[in-house]
Amino acid sequence: MANWEELRGRCMACRKCALAETRTNVVFGAGPRDAEVMFIGEGPGENEDLQGEPFVGKGGQLLDEMLSLIDLDRTRNFYITNIVKCRPPHNRDPLNTEQDACIGYLEEQIDLLKPKIIVCLGRIAAARLIKPDFKITREHGQWFRLEDGVWRMAIYHPAALLRDPDKRPDTFADLRALRAKIREVCTRTY
Ligand code: URA
Repeated sequence: MANWEELRGRCMACRKCALAETRTNVVFGAGPRDAEVMFIGEGPGENEDLQGEPFVGKGGQLLDEMLSLIDLDRTRNFYITNIVKCRPPHNRDPLNTEQDACIGYLEEQIDLLKPKIIVCLGRIAAARLIKPDFKITREHGQWFRLEDGVWRMAIYHPAALLRDPDKRPDTFADLRALRAKIREVCTRTY
């Protein structure tokens, strides 16, 4: 099996899909490589593409603020990355072909990290990592446990919370459920 540096090197040099033509930086992921909790978004936006770091724009700031309320901090106790590692032009949804080209990197990241809990940020990540017909308005905050034994939940994407602040109370409730699950199944996060 690959190690983190070898995987990162391969990912940074990737030219498997057309997003390689338009990206500034590959956004591999951030956070401790032994975290028990993993957050997964859909793909880098403009700020992420420019800085090479996931969730560093307005949505990322909101996410960091909300997660700090349940004592989660990306420098300390969670890992964060995306389904696709390069920015789709004009922030469109990543195409299935782009997701298919890229998903192997995420699968290797999951194999290396061995998270206890995966939190999908938004519908695109949930459709890929929980079930294809995932309904974010109905199924956010619910726990799913697939064959690998990893607990999975989706919350609204931070961009949706910026667009529609009325969704924030639901997300706070989901994060309280996340905190409870962390206390139940994680040993090093808190
Ligand atoms: N939106 C995402 O899904 N991922 C990022 O890294 C930034 C914005």
